[in-house]
Amino acid sequence: MNESTFAPGGGQPGLAEHTTGQPTDDTGAAYTTVGATEIGTVAVRTFEARQAAAAGYDSDLSAHGLAYGEFAYGSHDDPDAEYEPDPEYAATLAPDAARQRRERVGPTGRPLPYFPIPAPLAEHGPARIVAMCNQKGGVGKTTSTINLGAALAEYGRRVLLVDFDPQGALSVGLGVNPMELDVTVYNLLMERGLTADEVLLKTAVPGMDLLPSNIDLSAAEVQLVSEVARESALARALKPLLPDYDFVIIDCQPSLGLLTVNALTAAHSVIVPLECEFFALRGVALLTETIEKVCERLNPELRLDGILATMYDSRTVHSREVLARVVEAFGEHVFHTVIGRTVRFPETTVAGEPITTYATNSVGAAAYRQLAREVLERCRPVE
Ligand SMILES: Nc1ncnc2c1ncn2[C@@H]1O[C@H](COP(=O)(O)OP(=O)(O)OP(=O)(O)O)[C@@H](O)[C@H]1O
Ligand SMILES: [Mg+2]
Repeated sequence: MNESTFAPGGGQPGLAEHTTGQPTDDTGAAYTTVGATEIGTVAVRTFEARQAAAAGYDSDLSAHGLAYGEFAYGSHDDPDAEYEPDPEYAATLAPDAARQRRERVGPTGRPLPYFPIPAPLAEHGPARIVAMCNQKGGVGKTTSTINLGAALAEYGRRVLLVDFDPQGALSVGLGVNPMELDVTVYNLLMERGLTADEVLLKTAVPGMDLLPSNIDLSAAEVQLVSEVARESALARALKPLLPDYDFVIIDCQPSLGLLTVNALTAAHSVIVPLECEFFALRGVALLTETIEKVCERLNPELRLDGILATMYDSRTVHSREVLARVVEAFGEHVFHTVIGRTVRFPETTVAGEPITTYATNSVGAAAYRQLAREVLERCRPVE
């Protein structure tokens, strides 16, 4: 799947991804072996086979001598392998996919604009600082920080990622062991005289650097309380770095404590990832209130770049309803790009690299590249 075939879906996994999951179909029947042509290579599941599966008829199955429910093809090793979707089957899963392609309507239900490939930059900086923020846990902040950063770097932007979560998930996701670090963002915040160069790590992605962190950072929350201008400690620490980068992306921890307030004070804008599930909007009012307070009292420049819908699954009515509700609530603030749910993302964490390099042709990688282009369209670097 490449970007041009991806674009009409606008980040929606749609046709490509619906066939890639674990072996149940809309009838709930296992289809792992039924209708699989070319055993051991790529399975193309035919419509007839689905009918047969639904009817409990499994002649192919016995012909191959396989137990019901067993994998008969390569996707046993690669559950997210892409194979050719059966259009009729696809239509039952994503009834509006054809319309989306014809009318260029994105998964958010709005016309999908064209996001051009950004022109290369002649010179770099000053950086735009983006805080990836949501006090709800597990919504895709860290995943979005790594992959948006990597996609921006692919487009020739110089990117600095800041791990501002004592869990150190961003560092882990980029192959760094937080326990082995001598100096981290914590030292940069708390120790005078320490320069950012001493803390910076290069990542495997050209043009993308990391300010790592580990559990030490949790102490900063307490220690900063007694500091003068405690909310702007991170802004001070980042200032000398801004001329060298085009984007600084801060991965916030899942809370609205002093560390997050520091990130919001340092940032020009905020991206709020929202998981497409029932409680997605719970707590968003508190988050927008916090953003407004920081904007009033500490950082009048702060803007909401956008709400990013993550872990979207077009196969489920629930996911589609939640996304529609999010668009209803936030309108144009919602990014046109939507990140689909795929097992590739947890895999990338284990691999310690972004999806853009781990599975460069995957739908997930294309989604973050599109997000990078949309972000570049939305927030031009500060002059
Ligand atoms: N689009 C996606 N599809 C499937 N899994 C995903 C997706 N995005 C993220 N994940 C997985 O969901 C989990 C949580 O994601 P992530 O760590 O990015 O969230 P987070 O908001 O940073 O969490 P925390 O609040 O704990 O810092 C991870 O295991 C990640 O691999
Ligand atoms: Mg995280």
